[in-house]
Amino acid sequence: MLLRRIKARLNTLLMKLSIICAPILRGKAFNRPIAILIETSAVCNLHCRGCPVPHRYFQKSRKSKFIKPKDVQKILSLVEIDGKRHCDTFVVNNFGEPFLNLDFLSILDILSSYFIIFSTNLNVRSEHIDSLIAYHEKYRNISELIVSMDGYDQGSYENFYRIGGSWDKIINNIQKIERTALREVTQLQLLDNGDQEFRERFIAFAKEHRFATRIKPLDASFKKDGTALYTTNKCHFSYQGIYIDSDCNIVSCCADPMMELKNANVYNCQSWSELWNGEAIKKRRLALSKNKNLFDVCRQCQGLNLITSNKWLTAKLQKMREA
Ligand SMILES: C[S@@+](CC[C@H](N)C(=O)[O-])C[C@H]1O[C@@H](n2cnc3c(N)ncnc32)[C@H](O)[C@@H]1O
Ligand code: SF4
Repeated sequence: MLLRRIKARLNTLLMKLSIICAPILRGKAFNRPIAILIETSAVCNLHCRGCPVPHRYFQKSRKSKFIKPKDVQKILSLVEIDGKRHCDTFVVNNFGEPFLNLDFLSILDILSSYFIIFSTNLNVRSEHIDSLIAYHEKYRNISELIVSMDGYDQGSYENFYRIGGSWDKIINNIQKIERTALREVTQLQLLDNGDQEFRERFIAFAKEHRFATRIKPLDASFKKDGTALYTTNKCHFSYQGIYIDSDCNIVSCCADPMMELKNANVYNCQSWSELWNGEAIKKRRLALSKNKNLFDVCRQCQGLNLITSNKWLTAKLQKMREA
């Protein structure tokens, strides 16, 4: 545990060094990615208010709606060479509901020796949850299971965000998880729209069922429809992870539903360095770290500035500015 923490600290230092030296390194990342994200499904059974997945423009942007086990094997062949791993964590969802991929459990099996994180609407057949519980009993490798709840009873659940969702189904699945080891890694998530009473009742519900909560700001720009525009201009998100869509494209960010930031394809990579530091990937990283607003999708996002988001460094820079 201690060793893992030290390694993570060192990795963060290398990441910041890579960012600061970006113009010299031409966008190369010396650190390892914190996680590799794969979009296991690009379709969904719900119609949530702000999500791009149910819309035609999103559906037209993906040829293959589900990633296949052989694609995941291909990714692993680049990540793990001679027993040496370049990353130990996989996030197995992006846009779309992962359980709709009929191969989802087989994919988890392939990744059973890695840490797994994913988000689900939990509006799925209870047999899927039985299989997930059995999977976690066997491997204990799910480190975070995020349940997109957004409600505390039937009315609140159906009216707030999760259009088309069934409260009975989600409660039934939550009660199953509640009785198992999976509960310890599960977080019930609320997309926070600022309604304090809603938030308090949601937290009370989670407490009653002994679950941790995760309160995430409801992002109006999630739909990427041009309604929100941010002027901050640097983003270092692409130094943190590798994002792979259901067509196996490598993208610079997971919040890019239309794949404007598509750089390469997994099937064109022969090595780890091509997957993490391929020419097109480095070029885009450098561009994003100079001015993310060059890209339409990024103008609607706040961006992630890993240098000024450091509290200590921010305070120092502030002092220097004031001096
Ligand atoms: C697009 S969903 C896909 C996974 C799964 N279908 C689900 O809903 O959890 C991925 C994550 O984005 C979150 N999300 C959906 N709409 C959002 C919004 N408008 N603002 C911020 N996060 C949002 C979901 O709650 C979920 O945690
Ligand atoms: S359940 Fe998830 S993927 Fe489906 S529409 Fe809602 S936010 Fe989007």
